[in-house]
Amino acid sequence: MKNVAIAGATGAVGGEFLKLMEARNFPISNLKLLASERSVGKTLEFCGEKITVEELTPNSFKGVDLAFFSAGKGRSKEFIHHAVDAGTVVIDNSSAFRMDPEVPLVVPEINPHMAFKHKGIIANPNCSTIQMVVALNPLHKAATINRVIVSTYQSTSGAGAKGMSELLNQTRAFANNEPLEVSAFPAQIAFNLFPHVDVFLENGYTREEMKMVLETQKIMDAPEMKISATCVRVPVLRAHSEAVWIETEDKLTAQEAREILENSPGIIVKDEPVAGGYPMPWDADETTETYVGRIREDLSHPKGLTFWVVADQLYKGAALNSLQIAEVLEAG
Ligand SMILES: NC(=O)c1ccc[n+]([C@@H]2O[C@H](COP(=O)([O-])OP(=O)(O)OC[C@H]3O[C@@H](n4cnc5c(N)ncnc54)[C@H](OP(=O)(O)O)[C@@H]3O)[C@@H](O)[C@H]2O)c1
Repeated sequence: MKNVAIAGATGAVGGEFLKLMEARNFPISNLKLLASERSVGKTLEFCGEKITVEELTPNSFKGVDLAFFSAGKGRSKEFIHHAVDAGTVVIDNSSAFRMDPEVPLVVPEINPHMAFKHKGIIANPNCSTIQMVVALNPLHKAATINRVIVSTYQSTSGAGAKGMSELLNQTRAFANNEPLEVSAFPAQIAFNLFPHVDVFLENGYTREEMKMVLETQKIMDAPEMKISATCVRVPVLRAHSEAVWIETEDKLTAQEAREILENSPGIIVKDEPVAGGYPMPWDADETTETYVGRIREDLSHPKGLTFWVVADQLYKGAALNSLQIAEVLEAG
């Protein structure tokens, strides 16, 4: 049994930690809920008990064995070292330490052994990256992927609680013929979409797109894999979707790929050529698996394969993956 803390407990990811830790009977002797001073005194329920939220400070971690951080990159940079100094093992959902060579970047279906190499911090990868690598990894093992091209369709909750509220508020305002307020996103999201997730970088890609490139190479230990991503925000509340195209060293037929994916951990193949016979974000809502469908051989390349991947990014892309990392550590 562990003394556990959640930094960012009041956020979109924080709330999912509470649900999942309860559902999975994660062994906890004491749970500390941390957030900004705005939330101090609020209560959140865990296993039928009301727990009062405390302010995240450098002194929050005395006696804490394990801390999950989901309070943004700035807070991770500011507070995680205090936690590590206090002897706490930290699993961080932000991008603060993901590309640090000293910090393992872990997806339990792929590189669980890396979790044990931590020096106090384990990074949880970017949400769009996690669901993509869960599908890529078994295909890479079977036929060596040389190149990946991916377009994402990312839900509003990827931008936190305020992203979901903005979609709902704009939809209501639109229905009532009222002006739409834009604050959480760079443009109107209701009845719209935009190819802009995170900030633009000098190479013309966004930071989210470059996370998908660099983090995939690190998790899969495949620095030579060529990857290009276009990340798009869509008016969906929860769960990200991705159209993925791969080029393999050895030819993979659609049927071979289907069988490999069906026998791979954490994946459900839903691939029937009928209405609704493919994964959709609404169906993935609050589920733990990564869904793959629309698997087909690419007409434009003899060793090309294309498919569609959907997962609940608040679960597998964030809280669930972090918790699974903790479960790997627990199991030893
Ligand atoms: N949403 C996703 O799909 C997703 C997926 C993977 C990773 N992540 C990462 O997870 C982190 C949280 O994301 P989210 O979507 O849950 O965001 P969110 O809904 O906006 O929640 C942010 C959390 O951080 C806390 N926080 C903000 N400023 C703080 C401060 N100065 N001191 C202490 N706590 C502070 C907030 O507390 P208050 O309520 O008190 O403001 C809240 O609990 C981010 O690093 C994000 O990149 C998110």
